[in-house]
Amino acid sequence: MEIITQVIQVQDLKKTYTMGKVEVNALCGVNLEVPSGNFLAILGPSESGKTTLLHTLGALDKPTSGRVLISGFDLASSLLSNQ
Ligand SMILES: Nc1ncnc2c1ncn2[C@@H]1O[C@H](COP(=O)(O)OP(=O)(O)OP(=O)(O)O)[C@@H](O)[C@H]1O
Ligand SMILES: [Mg+2]
Repeated sequence: MEIITQVIQVQDLKKTYTMGKVEVNALCGVNLEVPSGNFLAILGPSESGKTTLLHTLGALDKPTSGRVLISGFDLASSLLSNQ
C-alpha cells in the first residue's frame, strides 16, 4: 500500500502588514495541502498575496497567525523563527 505524505500543509494562514495606521490583509486564512510527488501552481491577480504566501512557505517571512508544516515539521518551531 502506498503511503501518501503531505510535503506542505498550510492551516488557516493569515498575514497582515501594518504600515503606520494602515493594515493590509495579504493572506486571509489560506488552507492547502501538497502531497508528495505533486506540483502546485499559485495563480491570482496582482497583489492577491502570491509572493506573501511563497515567502511564508519558504520561511522567509513569518505569518501573523496559522501554521505551515513542511513534511510535518512546523516552521514556527524552527530556529529560523527567532528572527
Ligand atoms: N512588505 C510589505 N509591506 C506592506 N504591504 C505589503 C508588503 N508586501 C506585500 N504587501 C501588500 O500585500 C498584498 C499582497 O501582496 P503580494 O506581493 O503578496 O501579492 P502578489 O500576488 O505577489 O502580487 P504580484 O502579482 O503583483 O506580484 C498587496 O496589497 C501588497 O501591497
Ligand atoms: Mg508577487
